[in-house]
Amino acid sequence: MNRPAAERRAAELRRIIEHHNRRYYQDDAPEIPDSEYDRLLRELMDLEERFPELAVPDSPTRRVGAPPLEKFTPYPHRTPMLSLSNAFADEEVAAFDRRIRDRLGTAAVDYTAEPKFDGLAVSLVYEDGVLVHGATRGDGITGEEVTANVRTIRTVPLRLLGSAVPRFLDVRGEVLLFRQDFANLNRAQREQGEKEFANPRNAAAGSLRQLDSHVTASRPLSFFAYALGGAEGMELPATHAGALELLSDLGFPVCPERRVVTGVPGLLAYYREILDRREAMPYDIDGVVYKLNDRAGQEIMGAVSRAPRWALAHKFPAQEALTEIVRIDVSVGRTGVLTPVARLKPVFVGGATVTNATLHNEDEIRRKDVRAGDTVVVRRAGEVIPEVVSVLLDRRPPGTEEFRMPDLCPVCGSTAVRLPGEAAVRCTGGLFCPAQLKQSLLHFGSRRALDIEGLGEKLVDQLVDRDLVRSPADLYRLRREDLVLLDRLGDLSSENLVQAAAKSRDTTLPRFIYALGIPDVGETTAGDLALFFGSLDRLMEAKRETLRFVPNIGAEVAASLVAFFAEPHNRQVIADLRRLGVTWEETTPGSGSRRRPLSRLLTSFAIPEVGDVRAEALERRFGSLEALLEAEEREIRETPGLSPGAAEGVLRFRKDPDTLEVIGQLGRCGHTWTAGIAEEGAADDAGKGSSAVAGKTFVLTGTLNGFTRDEAKERIEARGGRVSTSVSKKTDYVVAGADPGSKLSKAQALGVRVLDEGAFITLLDLP
Ligand code: IVH
Repeated sequence: MNRPAAERRAAELRRIIEHHNRRYYQDDAPEIPDSEYDRLLRELMDLEERFPELAVPDSPTRRVGAPPLEKFTPYPHRTPMLSLSNAFADEEVAAFDRRIRDRLGTAAVDYTAEPKFDGLAVSLVYEDGVLVHGATRGDGITGEEVTANVRTIRTVPLRLLGSAVPRFLDVRGEVLLFRQDFANLNRAQREQGEKEFANPRNAAAGSLRQLDSHVTASRPLSFFAYALGGAEGMELPATHAGALELLSDLGFPVCPERRVVTGVPGLLAYYREILDRREAMPYDIDGVVYKLNDRAGQEIMGAVSRAPRWALAHKFPAQEALTEIVRIDVSVGRTGVLTPVARLKPVFVGGATVTNATLHNEDEIRRKDVRAGDTVVVRRAGEVIPEVVSVLLDRRPPGTEEFRMPDLCPVCGSTAVRLPGEAAVRCTGGLFCPAQLKQSLLHFGSRRALDIEGLGEKLVDQLVDRDLVRSPADLYRLRREDLVLLDRLGDLSSENLVQAAAKSRDTTLPRFIYALGIPDVGETTAGDLALFFGSLDRLMEAKRETLRFVPNIGAEVAASLVAFFAEPHNRQVIADLRRLGVTWEETTPGSGSRRRPLSRLLTSFAIPEVGDVRAEALERRFGSLEALLEAEEREIRETPGLSPGAAEGVLRFRKDPDTLEVIGQLGRCGHTWTAGIAEEGAADDAGKGSSAVAGKTFVLTGTLNGFTRDEAKERIEARGGRVSTSVSKKTDYVVAGADPGSKLSKAQALGVRVLDEGAFITLLDLP
């Protein structure tokens, strides 16, 4: 690029960046993702580096944020609020460390590492221990006075803790919204017909910069302190970690994920660890921050124009990026749901190149007004399917058309129906719809289902398109001769597939149930069902009411199961699979192995006029279900505390064939109903949190027979428990499989309870 062209581009970039600065900092309504903004800024920085005379004094590269809004009182910071230099690559981190080592002449350097919170920076000023000013960063030199607003943040101390408070203290930190609080806030906004916030950071910024602090008070803001801006009349710690400790002692929330690490290996290990946990964090973070731990060293390093040389923000890959929608297709899922999919110009986001993004359903498309040809913000977070977040309406080309969902399945042409109360439109073709069949086959053969190695998308496409396979059972009918003709599937791999299918025949009940692909039945539910019924026949015959006794299973899943097994085609496929040799081990629970209080059985049948109290009266009077069923009519009518209506209800309950069938089904699963075992309560749909596992911390070690680690973890978490990787005094249980590691000995040393696989299963099974 020549000089005049560079000058024109720089001017243009400045204008664009300034525009987005205002949208972001003043209006709290950014139009473009941060990654795009960063890209523009980098381009301008590069230009100014190549042509230094273009770096005019008012260039956006020279400032941090934007000037304060008119409406708030400007607040001049005593010490400037600096920004941070960014790094994206490991080499940049190494260069940062090298600069520090060179300057300080030290071998290995200690750093404090912290998450980089995605909120907004504030300065909190305390005089004689009392909060007297709160200010936003503004341009770093002058911020906005938001004292009344920060006072409403529950975790910001209004007065410092302890007796030795400094005369003056300027605390720097981040105001943010936890994800859960953000979700609640947006739900409230929706219910009140107010506009929803795009993300937690915008919501936090919008909430803090309110002229009426009552509004701020109604928003669940949080705060983390991360640095000292200045202090007088107090001895300061020699390290940054010490300063954070001090802040914590003074009453500030300090991030528990902070850590002191050494050298580049320490920094990078920390980065990877936090990146791994990014999705699981209760708040948004966009990277980690490294700070030279030694404060004297910080003095020596000093700062360049906008950022200290002793600190570095190591950013995570951006989760949002801009791209264009080439067209909108409709895809058909395993359960027939039609999903609009945006085909995108390839874009690198969230650490991967993305070409498709889900648009969820028609309502969602309407709400966002997404059209083919639009420039959109795409988001890819963790392993989640990329989605279209929003449209840049001012970039919409002329002549675009509103999207409409088809009335027929685009794959098989069956009618597509919109089920009452559902946002989704479904193809009614079932497994006769090739798209549904393909998805079903892929699911059936997937690693955590029947695990048929090599059964990938390409192969499934051909098997279905050439009509070699019409149901999962057909996979076991394939012969080598059928396969040799397929593209890219030489003699060897066709043999492999036949063998892989044969090998998959020997499976487990949870895997088989999961493999069936019943709507709403994931791995965890499949495991729960297998545990409860022990046999496929017992599961298949189970009535809806029986299914409700399975831990963690609600009305919807129960209905879905009943509907699935009522379908003759599904029963046929299952029968075929068994005939073709798919087998698993079944268990028969010993009768009485699951003792439950009789009163819980009675209350779960909603007998007229029989609540907890009368159910308990019946339990006391008869002692067991058998006794209640065999009792004389008179004995029931004469039960103390029973109203005539309740007695009538119980008598009808005893005769009702459906009820008796449910009781029989539960009995075949080992359930007996007796008196005096109040603590063991029957399973109900309270699900999560109601189990013996809820609130307990588990550590897994060694190999389990019936579950993979992940499966065991899911089971525990589904019941409200937690899985940790290291044993401590706080661990409730260590589950030890075959060849346990050192965790077992540590558990024994600490006196933590150890469960073998059998005891673990029993515990999971307890409601
Ligand atoms: S330290 C001199 N620590 O990042 C050091 N900043 O680009 C100044 N931020 O606006 C900042 N988490 O709001 C620091 N753990 C953390 C941070 C953090 C988020 C933000 C801060 C600032 C921006 C700097």
